[in-house]
Amino acid sequence: MKKIGVLTSGGDSPGMNPAIRAVVRKGIFHDLEVYGIYNGYAGLINGNIKRLELGSVGDIIHRGGTMLHSARLPEFKNPEVQQQGIKQLQKHGIEGLVVIGGDGSYMGAKALTEQGFPCVGVPGTIDNDIPGTEFTIGFDTALNTVIDALDKIRDTATSHERTFIIEVMGRDAGDLALWSGLAGGAETILIPEAGYDMQDIADRLRKGQERGKKHSLIVVAEGVCSGIEFGKELEKATDFDTRISVLGHIQRGGSPTAFDRVLASRLGARAVELLIEGKGGRAVGIEMNRLVDYDIIEALGRKHTLDIDLYKLSQELSI
Ligand code: F6P
Repeated sequence: MKKIGVLTSGGDSPGMNPAIRAVVRKGIFHDLEVYGIYNGYAGLINGNIKRLELGSVGDIIHRGGTMLHSARLPEFKNPEVQQQGIKQLQKHGIEGLVVIGGDGSYMGAKALTEQGFPCVGVPGTIDNDIPGTEFTIGFDTALNTVIDALDKIRDTATSHERTFIIEVMGRDAGDLALWSGLAGGAETILIPEAGYDMQDIADRLRKGQERGKKHSLIVVAEGVCSGIEFGKELEKATDFDTRISVLGHIQRGGSPTAFDRVLASRLGARAVELLIEGKGGRAVGIEMNRLVDYDIIEALGRKHTLDIDLYKLSQELSI
């Protein structure tokens, strides 16, 4: 393998830049030419491809977002569109591709691999919902952003003795809500992986008030329902003075944490090693702090599982 490409696709996540840097520098370290594909799969089919040098990825390790930009391209499900992408890669003599992104991006990488073009998937999403890895690039940074917000909301919640509902991202996964709720000391955490009972929540909040608690934080994963919807329900069930905060896309930005930078560097570099070893069609990840890789098709077939013990612990600690 002499030439490889790298693209970022789907929702961006903090740490994609250090991952791109790792792919480029590891590739050049091994005498490969590395090409950046701009705007995800949309840029791929349009031939938005440029060679990247060592300096192209200088000064990005600390930056959020992705220097390659990103896009969602639902049409990439179409095999003819995929062929268009492969032709563009072949035009540049590119023989392997590193795809950094979430499950939609993995689907694209899987399809290209099935069509005979070797791809390696690197998990980049704040949702932490990719099977085959315990952590995805960007999750830790987003988590810290949410905790920062929760700490600030706690201040005003205490001053005004209010109940706050904080809606966090995560798509269908509850990881961001669970980890942030636990770390932020939320009274209640709602995740899609577990149901909830409004009466039970109202009773718990009331018991807390009787014990002298003046405020409550409720973290709602967007995969459960909207914070506004939940707020209306809660107001019907109680007489609490309630406010709602939807954190939105601030969770996707910001300088990546040290954890995400190191994770991105390790996973990006490993993806290049796999291509050099001729092992396309893999997805890299981290388990018990060790790098792992799985067949991308097998990885996608697995189910991401939330740490249910952590959920139980959060309930025990928020009585
Ligand atoms: O997958 C990342 C994510 O931020 C999800 O948490 C969220 O549901 C979605 O993307 C938002 O997508 P968009 O940026 O396209 O609105």
